[in-house]
Amino acid sequence: MTTDKPYCPPKPYSLWAVPALFRTLWRGEGNLLELLPAAAYKFKVGNLGISRRSTVLFNDPELVSHILRDPDEIFPKSDLMVSAVEPLIGQSIFVTDGEKWRKQRAMVDPAFSMMRISHAFNQMQAAVHDHEIELERRAQTGEEFSLDQAMGQLTADIICRAVFSTSLDSNIAHDVFEDFNIFERHVAQTDIMHMITAPAWSNPPQKPEVLDACARIRQHLGTLVDTHLDPNSNYNDIASEVVAARDKETNQPFTRDELIDQLGVFFLAGHETTASVLTWVFYILAAQPNLVKQLRNEIDNVVGTGEVEFAHIKRLPLVRAVFRETLRLYPPITFIPRVALRNAKVGPRKLRRGALVMIAPWTLHRHKLYWKDPHIFRPERFLSELADQIPGAYIPFGQGNHTCVGAGFAQAESALIISKLIRRFDFVMTNTEPVRPAARLTTRPVKQITYKVKYHR
Ligand code: HEM
Repeated sequence: MTTDKPYCPPKPYSLWAVPALFRTLWRGEGNLLELLPAAAYKFKVGNLGISRRSTVLFNDPELVSHILRDPDEIFPKSDLMVSAVEPLIGQSIFVTDGEKWRKQRAMVDPAFSMMRISHAFNQMQAAVHDHEIELERRAQTGEEFSLDQAMGQLTADIICRAVFSTSLDSNIAHDVFEDFNIFERHVAQTDIMHMITAPAWSNPPQKPEVLDACARIRQHLGTLVDTHLDPNSNYNDIASEVVAARDKETNQPFTRDELIDQLGVFFLAGHETTASVLTWVFYILAAQPNLVKQLRNEIDNVVGTGEVEFAHIKRLPLVRAVFRETLRLYPPITFIPRVALRNAKVGPRKLRRGALVMIAPWTLHRHKLYWKDPHIFRPERFLSELADQIPGAYIPFGQGNHTCVGAGFAQAESALIISKLIRRFDFVMTNTEPVRPAARLTTRPVKQITYKVKYHR
């Protein structure tokens, strides 16, 4: 297919464990990607650097699947992750485990059925339409903008419309977005020294400004929840589906606080992640003119000049392959951390109680044993069945119990955004500095990538 030269998009330069640690501390960016030793792309199970608390990285698909299915309930979500997000999303499905999580998940799942996603597609179309108007303005003025921020705003707008039937222009949604950015800025950088020196379950309390931002977000979410709890309301959106959900055994609905937890997590998990992968999609496409031509041909043949509809999505294999290959190279959830509740053995590896058990889509997706030319961007991998030959080596949406509830939503939304924007605009990067990826709340460029858009037609 594409006649563009083999393309290796930005990745950290891998070092041995000790120099990698010094580089990461010296740069002070808390970037876990740069801490990954070169060996992490080759071994199946290994230590992740040197720390007081044992930190073990699993790269073996079978063992990864065992840990994430967790039949013996030994590996819940890690205390590091839970303590970072709990002030925002309380006891939502993103942090709970065991029986509590099972009940919550059963109540939340129907809100992401295919039928619900196809209904949400109208709201996605409306948000992308408004974004196109903004890009038209930018094309006319030649204004430079941050791709990262633009994608964050677009996906936040989509989440607000699909979950609460309100756009990001409304005061409440806008305030949630602004406070979320404060939260993201403060909790995104990993405290590497803490990771190295602290024992398990010893996380310091969050900074006051983070707690304030979380309290404000929860207050705003509460106002949005109240509009849906009003017996006279007549919403038909994701929030209304979760409000109507009942526990199978007790027939009880979620309480108001529980609704804030669950709906808050859709905002947290549902917009940053998609914004992350789309930032990388448009970054990569700016360097792949022939691929862009092929994408435009596919979109023209399938969609014509009309609106991109939900039914078109499964008929756009190249658009989907570009999305999947970008998720391989830049999985938004870079690490999926768990903690060992007790001493355990996984495959050949003994784990002590409190060990940090790391699964890294980033290393699995770039592992020498599972991928040919692992760092090269090659969407054709996903045009054939070959891509699924190693089950468990491709897990951008996780695996097992906690598999992403919004995977179908994210795929529909991303295919829509890519198709609509790429057929009308050329994205031209204006950055002069080299781009480096970082593991923050999601996989992001260390610094903003600046762009201009031009009309294609
Ligand atoms: C490209 C976009 C996305 C990616 C790559 C992604 C990835 C993931 C991953 C890897 C997990 C598992 C985390 C773990 O096991 O610890 C997860 C969980 C979750 N995601 Fe997504 N996600 C995306 C979009 C979304 C969207 C759009 C929503 C909702 C609107 C969403 C809602 C959730 C929720 C609620 C969970 C927790 C599920 C549970 O623990 O039972 N995600 N996601």
